[in-house]
Amino acid sequence: TEMGCLSIVVLGASGDLAKKKTFPALFNLFRQGFLQSNEVHIFGYARTKLSDDDLRERIRGYLIKGAPSENPEILSDFLKLIKYVSGGYDSAEGFLSLNKAISEHELAKNSYGSSRRLFYLALPPSVYPSVCKMIKSYCMNQAVPTGWTRIVVEKPFGKDLASAEELSAQLGELFDEPQLYRIDHYLGKELVQNLLVLRFANRFFLPLWNRDNIDNIQIVFREDFGTEGRGGYFDEYGIIRDIIQNHLLQVLCLVAMEKPVSLRPEHIRDEKVKVLQSVLPINYDEVVLGQYEGYTDDPTVSKDSNTPTFATIILRIHNERWEGVPFIMKAGKALNSRKAEIRVQFKDVPGDIFKCKKQGRNEFVIRLQPKEAMYMKLTVKKPGLDMSTIQSELDLSYGQRYQEVPIPEAYERLILDTIRGDQQHFVRRDELRAAWEIFTPLLHDIEDGKVKSVPYKPGSRGPPEADELAAKAGYVQTHGYIWIPPTL
Ligand code: BG6
Repeated sequence: TEMGCLSIVVLGASGDLAKKKTFPALFNLFRQGFLQSNEVHIFGYARTKLSDDDLRERIRGYLIKGAPSENPEILSDFLKLIKYVSGGYDSAEGFLSLNKAISEHELAKNSYGSSRRLFYLALPPSVYPSVCKMIKSYCMNQAVPTGWTRIVVEKPFGKDLASAEELSAQLGELFDEPQLYRIDHYLGKELVQNLLVLRFANRFFLPLWNRDNIDNIQIVFREDFGTEGRGGYFDEYGIIRDIIQNHLLQVLCLVAMEKPVSLRPEHIRDEKVKVLQSVLPINYDEVVLGQYEGYTDDPTVSKDSNTPTFATIILRIHNERWEGVPFIMKAGKALNSRKAEIRVQFKDVPGDIFKCKKQGRNEFVIRLQPKEAMYMKLTVKKPGLDMSTIQSELDLSYGQRYQEVPIPEAYERLILDTIRGDQQHFVRRDELRAAWEIFTPLLHDIEDGKVKSVPYKPGSRGPPEADELAAKAGYVQTHGYIWIPPTL
């Protein structure tokens, strides 16, 4: 493992993402011993003039929230590692003083001769190009025996294929692909990270995971709140760009891809790209868009907005494994529940003698959140003297099975990967391009009003048309059975 100096620079240090996600994740890594006081320094950078202590005070509350029972000394040790530098996002002067601060830290701690610099852009993408230019001009790692400079960026990476390609080209001129870490925080979730193991380390699944056995697959994201406070951003992007084109599509890749040659990040990402390239153009008969009633009451949202806050879109993968199997992608805000899950529904048993059909099909459900779990819905004999059947489940609920293991936050894990130089759970440039290719025609047609959002009631399941579409695609809802997460 590398030793020596590590400088983590959070640009946009006083913004929401930094306070809510980046700093708490860094704190959690520190508490668990992944960041050592004798080698790490954290720099916040933003335009606002603040002292080191001002920044520390601003983030303190968020750190406590994430780790309420932590020893106050550990918190203050962590806060001591943070320094603040203020400056503009296209100001040479600002980045020169940032470089000076980093270099001083490196000189003070550089007994091992390394210079590792991680720049985390918790910023709106409009400033990515100028910030990256400044980093490249003034803040690259020192020429010492070991070292690197890495850049972490967050979505939105553009608004459509053309704008995403432009951004990629701008960053690509300044940094090589191995230096760029495009975060999709769904790739940091425990059960998303488990998908490869599940599929390729279990004999159970190998022969079943294909069009011969699987009828349809749903990938679902639901939130039980609206766009509160983010209406301005959201109205420009909509649910497809906010959730489906990135988070759910990444999950689809891992569910549908072929077995990679090895676990090397490039091998895995090669397979993901192949899946994306095999997705057929979206058929508008297999799209339902919704907008919850009251969405346009937000003063930052335009009154005649057609922006979807809900979408069900069926994707079809044209390859030997998946032809004919609908991937029902569904995401919505202001619905009746909050959860994210993958639901693999199997075909009916041929020559059924038990009338299982009435009770529902075999399903394998991977619940990403909340209450991480995997369960298999299956038919069993109803216990007792009668010979009848019921739906039951084999259940692996993480809270119950792994009581001693706290599940890490997605950001924690992903930031650790950037420090370790593992790009497996980050989006490669060609992957991003392929993802935009799938959705860009639809997104343009929504903007032109050619595909309309239908209204739905906040707190509902979304537009009934979406359930009808899923049923038409082959999904059979199970009645009279619900999975109840086990309580401890
Ligand atoms: C973000 C979206 O990427 O993901 C938000 O911009 C959404 O709209 C969030 O609320 C959901 O993340 P999680 O981890 O809570 O499922």
